Amino acid sequence: MTPKVVVGITGATGAVYAVRLLKRLKAAGREIHLVVSPAGVLNVHHELGLDRKALEALADVAYNPADVGAAIASGSFATEAMVVVPCSMKSLASIAHGFSDNLLSRAADVTLKERRRLVLMVRETPFNLAHLRNMTAVTEMGAVVFPPLPAFYHRPTTIEEIVEDTVERVLSLLGVNGARPKSWNGL
Ligand SMILES: Cc1cc2nc3c(=O)[nH]c(=O)nc-3n(C[C@H](O)[C@H](O)[C@H](O)COP(=O)(O)O)c2cc1C
Repeated sequence: MTPKVVVGITGATGAVYAVRLLKRLKAAGREIHLVVSPAGVLNVHHELGLDRKALEALADVAYNPADVGAAIASGSFATEAMVVVPCSMKSLASIAHGFSDNLLSRAADVTLKERRRLVLMVRETPFNLAHLRNMTAVTEMGAVVFPPLPAFYHRPTTIEEIVEDTVERVLSLLGVNGARPKSWNGL
């Protein structure tokens, strides 16, 4: 059976990471289940000029974030992992408190309760204490907090290289075979 990955996109800056990740998951043979918040749609359009339809065309199944009765709202729907890319502080807060106020945060809640891998690509700067406490809470619950912070020791020269490096590391964390994270082999 094709492994299923849930991808959530929220209204933080960094839409380019989301699109790159969707394309790589597809290339890696994953079945993509996508849920994009309204603020996520706003941001993807602002940053990349893509509308909801174009974004959802990159997934196998796309859900309405209000559809809390969808398959990914239940732990009985077998998925491999979930990633929220980028993850706003609002969605982080919802996940950290098990609030499940929409399909995206419910799917994350399910991923945690089923002890599956959840990667949150949180994005804000600077952080206030609520942000930091919520990151601690989700880490205690088993999620991986992965802010898209570039590394420069591979000397990237384009934004694309920076994005690719981050996305490959996330794919590796999601357990995707064929992920190509750059490794540091010493000076
Ligand atoms: C252009 C733009 C950029 C934003 N960037 C961020 C961000 O980097 N991090 C963040 O937490 N919120 C950011 N926000 C605010 C969120 O979009 C807002 O809190 C929203 O309610 C999040 O809802 P969601 O988590 O359901 O997508 C941004 C909003 C806009 C319009």
